[in-house]
Amino acid sequence: MAIILGLESSCDETAAAIVRSDRTILAHALAGQEDHHRAFGGVVPEIAARAHAELMTPLVQAALADAGMTLDDIDAIAATAGPGLIGGVMVGLVTAKALAMATGKPLIAVNHLEGHALSPRLVDADLAFPYLLLLVSGGHCQLLRVNGVGDYNRLATTIDDAVGEAFDKTAKILGLGFPGGPAVERAAANGNAGAVPLPRPLKGADEPHFSFAGLKSAVLRAHETGQYRVEDIAASFQQAVVDCLLDRLRYSVDRMESLPALVVAGGVAANEAIRTMLADFATARGMRFVAPPLWLCTDNGAMIAWAGAERFAAGLTDGLDFVARPRWPLDPNAAPARGAGVKA
Ligand code: KG4
Ligand code: ZN
Repeated sequence: MAIILGLESSCDETAAAIVRSDRTILAHALAGQEDHHRAFGGVVPEIAARAHAELMTPLVQAALADAGMTLDDIDAIAATAGPGLIGGVMVGLVTAKALAMATGKPLIAVNHLEGHALSPRLVDADLAFPYLLLLVSGGHCQLLRVNGVGDYNRLATTIDDAVGEAFDKTAKILGLGFPGGPAVERAAANGNAGAVPLPRPLKGADEPHFSFAGLKSAVLRAHETGQYRVEDIAASFQQAVVDCLLDRLRYSVDRMESLPALVVAGGVAANEAIRTMLADFATARGMRFVAPPLWLCTDNGAMIAWAGAERFAAGLTDGLDFVARPRWPLDPNAAPARGAGVKA
C-alpha cells in the first residue's frame, strides 16, 4: 500500500494531507486565507502566493505530526501543478520538488481539476470508471465523462463565467461578503426563490454549454432597482443556477450513452440546493448519485494526495523539471467552445 503526501496551493487554501491507497486519510491540514483577502473582496494573487509560502511548511509538518509519521514513511509527494493562480501553484510545486529531491521519493504533478474529479473515489470505493462528472468550482463549470485516471472527455463548459464566480460576484453585488458561495446560500435560505425574475442563460439552447455572465448582470440590475430584499435576490439567483445546471445536464444526458453514476465535485458542490437537484435528476435517470462530503468539495490537500495515489498506482510520476501551468485542460482534445472568456 502506498502512502502519498499531497499539497494544494492553487487558490486561497493552503493544504497538506497524507492519504493511503486503501482510502485512509491519515492526516489533513488546511489553512484558509479569507482574512488576508476579505478587505479586497476577492483573492489577491500576490497576497495568496506569499501566504502559501508562509503556511505550507508548517502545514506539512502538522500533517506529518498528525499522522505520526516522518518523510521516511511517505512513498511519493504530490502537489497541484496547475491550473490556478500561478504564484501559489509554484509555491506548492516547488515545496514538493524540494521534498522529493531531499528524500529521493518520486514527484507527482497533479492537475487540480483531476484532484476534484477523482475526489469522490476517495470516499466511495464502489465508484468505478466511467462516470459522468459535473465539475463546479470558482474557476470552472464543466460536464465531463471520466474514463479513467488522466482520461477525460469534456462534454460541456462555460462560455463565460464559472458558476462559483457567479456566486462570488452575486455575493459582492448584494454585500454578503467573502467567500461568496456559502454567504449566498445562507441568505437564500431566508428568501423567496420566485420573487425576482431572473434569466436562465442558454436554457433550451441546442448546444451543451453553460453561461452565467448574463445572470450576474441581471442580479446587479435587480439589486439596483431597490425593489427587492437581498434574501429574495439570493434565493432567486440560486434557483436560476439550479435551473440552468439541470437544463444543461439534461441536454447532454439525453444525447449520450447511459452511465451508471452521476458525480458532482468542486467547491460549488457544497451547495445543498444544487446537490438536491442533482440527486433527484440521478434518481430519475436510474443513475447512482455520488457527492463528496462538504469539506472534500472545496479545495483541500486530501483530494490532491488521492489523485496522487491514483496516478502513482498507474505508474505515473513526474520529473523535477515539471513546470507549473496556469492553464491545464483535463481534455486537451475538446473542441473550443465559443465565447471570449472560455474556461478550458
Ligand atoms: O473548488 P473550490 O474550493 O476552488 C476552486 O478550485 O475554484 O471552489 C470555490 C468556489 C467559490 O466560488 C465558492 O464561492 C464556491 O466554490 N462555493 C459555493 C459554496 N461553497 C463554496 N458556492 C455555492 N454554494 C456553496 N455552499
Ligand atoms: Zn478547486
